[in-house]
Amino acid sequence: MESCQRFSSLAFIALLAYFALLASAELHVREFVIQPKPVKRLCRTHESITVNGQFPGPTLEVRNGDSLAITVINRARYNISIHWHGIRQLRNPWADGPEYITQCPIRPGQSYTYRFTIIDQEGTLWWHAHSRWLRATVYGALIIYPRLGSPYPFHMPKRDIPILLGEWWDRNPMDVLRQAQFTGAAANVSDAYTINGQPGDLYRCSRSETVRFPIFPGETVQLRVINAGLNQELFFSVANHQLTVVETDSAYTKPFTTSVIMIGPGQTTNVLLTANQRPGRYYMAARAYNSANAPFDNTTTTAILEYVNAPTRRGRGRGQITPVFPILPGFNDTATATAFTNRLRYWKRAPVPQTVDENLFFTVGLGLINCSNPNSPRCQGPNGTRFAASINNQSFVLPRSNSIMQAYYQGMPGIFTTDFPPVPPVQFDYTGNVSRGLWQPVKGTKAYKLKYRANVQIVLQDTSIVTPENHPMHLHGYQFYVVGSGFGNFDPRTDPARFNLFDPPERNTIGTPPGGWVAIRFVADNPGAWFMHCHIDSHLGWGLAMVFLVENGHGQLQSVQAPPLDLPRC
Ligand code: C2O
Repeated sequence: MESCQRFSSLAFIALLAYFALLASAELHVREFVIQPKPVKRLCRTHESITVNGQFPGPTLEVRNGDSLAITVINRARYNISIHWHGIRQLRNPWADGPEYITQCPIRPGQSYTYRFTIIDQEGTLWWHAHSRWLRATVYGALIIYPRLGSPYPFHMPKRDIPILLGEWWDRNPMDVLRQAQFTGAAANVSDAYTINGQPGDLYRCSRSETVRFPIFPGETVQLRVINAGLNQELFFSVANHQLTVVETDSAYTKPFTTSVIMIGPGQTTNVLLTANQRPGRYYMAARAYNSANAPFDNTTTTAILEYVNAPTRRGRGRGQITPVFPILPGFNDTATATAFTNRLRYWKRAPVPQTVDENLFFTVGLGLINCSNPNSPRCQGPNGTRFAASINNQSFVLPRSNSIMQAYYQGMPGIFTTDFPPVPPVQFDYTGNVSRGLWQPVKGTKAYKLKYRANVQIVLQDTSIVTPENHPMHLHGYQFYVVGSGFGNFDPRTDPARFNLFDPPERNTIGTPPGGWVAIRFVADNPGAWFMHCHIDSHLGWGLAMVFLVENGHGQLQSVQAPPLDLPRC
């Protein structure tokens, strides 16, 4: 009798707690007005496309379990769509954002409300435009705190600082893209990198606006580092201070300490930093990790970590002391980049699929399209060609008259086909001296079908066509486990034996080692059309992309939701 009473009061308390949890979930209603705004950088003012006139755009702060309703009102002269990078959007591809994949773009003068719920995700993500190169200025942080009362797996500092790394062109980025699309040559590299929108002390006309972060001696802060740059992997470091990595792409890691991180476009990395050095001023700095044999922006962006008790100079030349500069790896220091990435581990035992239903092998890399008239102004790539890029020799072309998801849902034929090849059409020495006959990919709009809940493994194999390179590959709608990687060609007989199926890092974006391969696994439990692509925007434009079409399972709870009524039409 007594134990029965105790049981029912326990159940009651549990029920109360459950309702408290439900009640604590919030709905965040926001308006994102896409509008041009004068932004002055590097001595010149440009009419940049912004959200609400802010550059970088507003930070969204939510909790796991919260819902968002973000109305995007397009008052710019370009089509646009917004992607919530890393949000799983379970059964809700309509809120994912990539133009012509899950929605038609929002046209000038029109609007669309992205409605979605955060389901079992916490950490640092971000949002950005997913239309041509508009994300050069249209991006911001999306921070997901744990549910109220739910702990962090590490001691969470009181202060949290978003560090958005960006790339700035001293031109309209859309014109830079247009020119490249016309000539077929590589787009101009950026003129500056930025930290929270500012280039920093090492660029012309920038010093007075350099971002400063005051810090108390002894204090520990969390830096949420986001690489929002378009085209460049970056090294990031803070002078004299160690960084303790605790999270990547909104998944906790086993903490480890390093003096430098490598972060590819699309990736996020949370690090803890303790102000345990002499009171002073210290630069944080980012510059390129360039793995390709190609031109790149070799400048350095800085911000200043400022101890509140930093001494000032006295007497003549008084004022603030010069900040200490960090040691950054060389531009092509693949050894440091690889050593960093290889240290990442999931914070506990990870629920990695131990068996594989779909075993995919994807070559990723660049290519060149031959021209019938190599002297044409449209063929200014190497030797009168046009640059291209591909996965399994398929160079992805966005549809124009509908999005893939809408066409799929409506059963509209002619927009895409589902014959994307699971393996390369021919086998060759992918990372060796590839014969010229294999340099030209085929254009098309192909998707690959996956059964609901299939265990998927993809080996992403970089090729040395044009140049070996680190390609930060991003998968929409999923988080995956990075179970293995290596240099050279993947060997299916020996390499799988070395996979980490215990605590591999969980991510949404992973770079192929230049001239190497990386293997990922995930369960296809999210029905819909999901884009997978290189997060280097010039490669994306050249076709380094494909689409997974994940079928519905059984019943409503395993099927794509009905599209919202305001979903834009093409
Ligand atoms: Cu962060 Cu498809 O992109």
